[in-house]
Parts: sequence; structure tokens; C-alpha cells
Amino acid sequence: MRMKPQIIAALDVESRVEALKLVSTLREKIDYFKVGSRLFTAEGPGLIEEIQEAGVSVFLDLKFHDIPATVAGAVRAACGLGVRMLTLHTAGGVEMMKAAAQSAREASSRSGRQRPLLVGVTVLTSMSREDLSDISLYPGEVDELVTRRARRAREAGLDGVVASVREAARIRSECGDGFVLVTPGIRPAGAAAGDQKRTATPAEAARAGADYLVIGRPLYQAASPAEAAEAVLRELE
Ligand code: C5P
Repeated sequence: MRMKPQIIAALDVESRVEALKLVSTLREKIDYFKVGSRLFTAEGPGLIEEIQEAGVSVFLDLKFHDIPATVAGAVRAACGLGVRMLTLHTAGGVEMMKAAAQSAREASSRSGRQRPLLVGVTVLTSMSREDLSDISLYPGEVDELVTRRARRAREAGLDGVVASVREAARIRSECGDGFVLVTPGIRPAGAAAGDQKRTATPAEAARAGADYLVIGRPLYQAASPAEAAEAVLRELE
């Protein structure tokens, strides 16, 4: 049987002060905190170190998408920060993903630090089929594109992918048990969907084979983030 999934709390807040407050409220219950482009752009890499000093792990979600040499350099820099997991966009292509994987291996063997997990973003969970065909002329189903990108990510040497719960079971069966599945778009019963189009409950995500559940607004916008986290943990038991 698979281990029950771990929660990653998304720190999609405005400032360092708000982020550190959320970390200190949740760190007894949650081991991973996700820093995305909003907070990183506002506060910079120093905040990553402050969060790690609280004894928790950082998932750096900057969705790198650029030419291979640039992404390799960004991955090297992220390894230097000591983050445990980071994202790059599978739409950047196989060569870009291979360069990223190699860069992470080299950086960790040089520093002796544990290599972070590299996970590929497949299709953003806020994208519908209409959005996709509008922006890329891709005529097919979203889940086919997600699964194809997941296979390419695995072939290129990434550790796993970010995908919605809806595609998780299919990716799990095609890419195998060791492939890391990170699922955002998680909404405990009663929580608002917001801009997410493909949502699921924590229990559904666990049943679909997710390893990590990324949860943002249902935690940081809750009247009590600690109670909201507690409720998700109970649902996963
Ligand atoms: O607030 P909410 O729970 O919707 O937050 C989901 C988080 O997961 C956000 O930080 C978003 O950037 C991230 N994410 C996503 N879809 C992806 C990859 C990351 O929603 N495919």
C-alpha cells in the first residue's frame, strides 16, 4: 500500500511576515512549504533560508521554462539554496528537462547535499480544454497532453510531475510507483474552487495515488489555518 500523501502548504501570501507567521502556525503539522513566484519575487532567496531555519522543507515553485543552459543555471542556484523540491515546466522540452536533471545531479555531488526532487509542471490546473486550444491550437483532451508530458518528464530524468488529481491515476499507471505525483487544486469539502478548474478533495487525491497535496487558499484563507490543516490530516487518516 502507498504511504498517505504529505501536505505541502502553498505560501501564496504577500510578504515575508505573513509567510513566516503561517510557517510557525503550521510547522507542527506540515513539513513542506511552497514558495512560488509571488512571494519569491517580493522577498527573494533570503526568505527561503529563514523558512528552512524553522526546521521545515521548501518546495520552490518557480516553474522554470527557458533555454536548457538558463534552466540548468537556475536549477544549480536552487540547489545552492538547499530546497527539497523544485518545479520546471515540461513545455520547455526534453533537452531542457535533461539539462535540469544533470545540473541537479552535478550540484549535489559537488556540495554533498541531498539532491532536490525535480518535478515537471504538465498543464496548469487552472487551464481548461478551451484555454489550451485557444493558446496552443492543441485540439486533444487535457489529460492526454498531461500524460504525454509526464512520460517525457520521466524519460528526461525528472523525479515526477505536478498534475491534477483527475490525471493522477493514469500517470501513476503509466509512469510507475516510484514516480512522484504532486497534485494541486485540492479543495476540502465546502472550500471555494477559486480559479482552479480541475479540483478534488484530499481523500480523492490520496485514492488516485498522489504523493504530495499542494494546498493554498483553503489553508491560508481559513479563519484558522491550523484547524483547516488538522481537518485535512484527519480526512487523510
Ligand atoms: O490556492 P490553491 O490551493 O488553488 O493553490 C494551488 C497552488 O498550486 C498555487 O500556488 C499554484 O501556483 C500551484 N499550482 C497549480 N497548478 C499547477 C502547478 C502549481 O495550481 N499545475
